[in-house]
Amino acid sequence: MSRLRFVTAGESHGPCLTAIVEGLPAGLPVDAAEIDRQLRRRQGGYGRGGRMAIERDRVEILGGVIGGQTTGAPVALRVANRDWANWAERWEKGDLPPLTVPRPGHADYAGMVKYGLEDARPVLERASARETAARVAVGALARLLLACFDVLIGSCVTEIGGITAQVPDLPVQDLVDLAEASDVRCPDEEAARRMRAAIDAARQEGDSLGGVFEVIAVGLPVGLGSYVHWERRLDARLAAAVISIPAIKGVEIGPAFENARRPGTQVHDEFEAVAGRILRASNRAGGIEGGMSNGQPIVLRAAMKPIPTTITPLRSVDLATGEAAATEYQRSDVCAVPAASVVGEAMVAWVLADALIEKLGGDSLAEMMRHHTG
Ligand SMILES: Cc1cc2nc3c(=O)[nH]c(=O)nc-3n(C[C@H](O)[C@H](O)[C@H](O)COP(=O)(O)O)c2cc1C
Repeated sequence: MSRLRFVTAGESHGPCLTAIVEGLPAGLPVDAAEIDRQLRRRQGGYGRGGRMAIERDRVEILGGVIGGQTTGAPVALRVANRDWANWAERWEKGDLPPLTVPRPGHADYAGMVKYGLEDARPVLERASARETAARVAVGALARLLLACFDVLIGSCVTEIGGITAQVPDLPVQDLVDLAEASDVRCPDEEAARRMRAAIDAARQEGDSLGGVFEVIAVGLPVGLGSYVHWERRLDARLAAAVISIPAIKGVEIGPAFENARRPGTQVHDEFEAVAGRILRASNRAGGIEGGMSNGQPIVLRAAMKPIPTTITPLRSVDLATGEAAATEYQRSDVCAVPAASVVGEAMVAWVLADALIEKLGGDSLAEMMRHHTG
């Protein structure tokens, strides 16, 4: 069962985001510069809004790391909101104008009703995807642990606004490198060009776009997760973690929806024995069978809905008056699929690190490594 836990706190326009991470083994080298590198990756991408020009996220490590290594105690992380300076005075005085017109596609309406609020601001401050900066920082710790076991995690964008990439059949590292070099994180140059044009057109038309990204993890041992209980299944844990990212509405393991349209003989990955090794000619299962990693790359795709804040107003109701009202535009991304794919990597890294700790046991990295070798 889960050994790792994390919790985040903080609002989008508050002073900072904070995360507490519990369950990491002692002796893990932690480099703040590597966490910052992951934070920078989340901030990039064609289609982001003005805020990303203000924020230059940097992590402060406030607990659980001494001399550059984890101690086994909870790790505390802080990412300051640079935008805070523009909000601090009004925030502290509590004189921010109330938002009483819930925006379709946001947490506003259900959050106001649920918490008995007349103002949507407390809802949107916490429901905002700004929180994913904390998750990427936490995910960076998980990645550092996985890297000690030669596990590589990368991602690419396969679709934006209905434009689909032809993902080249390349070794994972090459694919990830191509995605990394693209501002839409797409390894198909022609599709990337059309995606950029679609984002420009959406911006021009006061609209927004969603899309699909793929996360790939290689180098995992066989047998992470288990079939013995529903909540131990690795596919279920990955899907829950990725769908918890704001605006992610669908997750598939391998080409699951395409597999659903084919007969079994064209789907299941047949075994071959080659020079004493058990190999597979295909990976349509996306690296998971029976809720466990099967030694193949784990491939997971996620569908992101279009950004709900649009320059073109959407119809709503002012809950203060009961009258029809239109949404007011707030600075926003037009498309955040490339950024979401980095958050997706972080959540996948988190689940895989948890499953690895569960599999290997051990309170220190050295102990985990001994068990791994064993
Ligand atoms: C990286 C990232 C950036 C996002 N940026 C925005 C944004 O600028 N404007 C916006 O309205 N929604 C943005 N979203 C999506 C909303 O946060 C999300 O749709 C909203 O909170 C409602 O949650 P739900 O879509 O999960 O139901 C972003 C999501 C992610 C993952």
